[in-house]
Amino acid sequence: MKEPIILGIESSCDDTSAAILQGQKILSNVIASQDVHKKYGGVVPELASRAHQQNIIPVIHQAIEQAGISKKDISAIAITRGPGLLGSLLVGTSFTKGLSLGLNIPILEVDHLQAHILAHFIDMSMPMPEFPFLCLTVSGGHTQIVKVSDYFEMEIIGKTIDDAAGEAFDKTAKILGLGYPGGPQIDKLSKLGDENRFIFPMPKIEGLDYSFSGIKTSFLYFVRDELKKDELFIEKNKNDLAASMQKLIIDILMGKLKRASRETGIKQIAIAGGVSANSGLRDAIKQGEKLHQWKTYIPEFQFTTDNAAMISIAGYFKYLKKEYLGIDFVPYARALHRQ
Ligand code: KG4
Ligand code: ZN
Repeated sequence: MKEPIILGIESSCDDTSAAILQGQKILSNVIASQDVHKKYGGVVPELASRAHQQNIIPVIHQAIEQAGISKKDISAIAITRGPGLLGSLLVGTSFTKGLSLGLNIPILEVDHLQAHILAHFIDMSMPMPEFPFLCLTVSGGHTQIVKVSDYFEMEIIGKTIDDAAGEAFDKTAKILGLGYPGGPQIDKLSKLGDENRFIFPMPKIEGLDYSFSGIKTSFLYFVRDELKKDELFIEKNKNDLAASMQKLIIDILMGKLKRASRETGIKQIAIAGGVSANSGLRDAIKQGEKLHQWKTYIPEFQFTTDNAAMISIAGYFKYLKKEYLGIDFVPYARALHRQ
């Protein structure tokens, strides 16, 4: 039997993306990032919706063209239903409804966070995680340790009680006067800095949960006080400040992940989400192979930040189960609550 061809569409935040997968093999993955938010230092929801509206048709055309298929070859459309910005999600979901009616093909609903995890099952001729595995999902909006027992059997065993890890990177960058998104810039500067130069206190949170708002505040106050003594403090110490904060965020992430592995006895460890692009975090996870006998799974760069290939693969597993969505569905903005 020929494998189904799934068109995936992602529009939950500030990337408009469309991808075509045949079975687990990727045929195309087109991403239009929105530069319009840069000057505001963060995503502006109204502008994001407008940019999605402009980008969505060209991006889908390009994905179909690059895949070398025609519209009528598509078996089903996988769409991010949530969580995300409602106005952004509405663009993708409304377009999907129209296309599904036009082509007379089913819709597959995808949860954005599950999709980040399922990106590990895109066939890149690399080993894939075996169930059960732990996945540290770290993005601009979420930080979770997920126990993955099957494609859609996922249990969140630890999560942030305030900011996400990506936000900690972005806010550090903002304090240092770097652009948005800050994560990649902190990553770059960290390579040139001394990560042991500045020591900030680790948050003390029970169990497997995280907290990142305290470190942001102590970093902000520290920099503010130093600037009073020397107005060039940031300029003179930028690399060391970036490296020290990056190390702190990674130490926090790794601490709870190690504990989760110890407590569950699971040594198959994956990472997912935008922050999994961070070179320091990737190294720290990899070191777990030697230090804790982990088998680790680190996504290719193109599947770390938001992309539609991960939506297509999640949709593919739903397609196999014939789990289609009725045309009257609405998106959901928040994880779990579906509202
Ligand atoms: O998964 P994602 O693309 O979007 C959300 O679903 O939130 O994650 C975006 C986040 C941003 O906070 C960005 O700063 C962070 O991922 N990020 C990084 C790196 N690349 C992206 N953080 C640290 N180091 C990086 N190299
Ligand atoms: Zn994401």
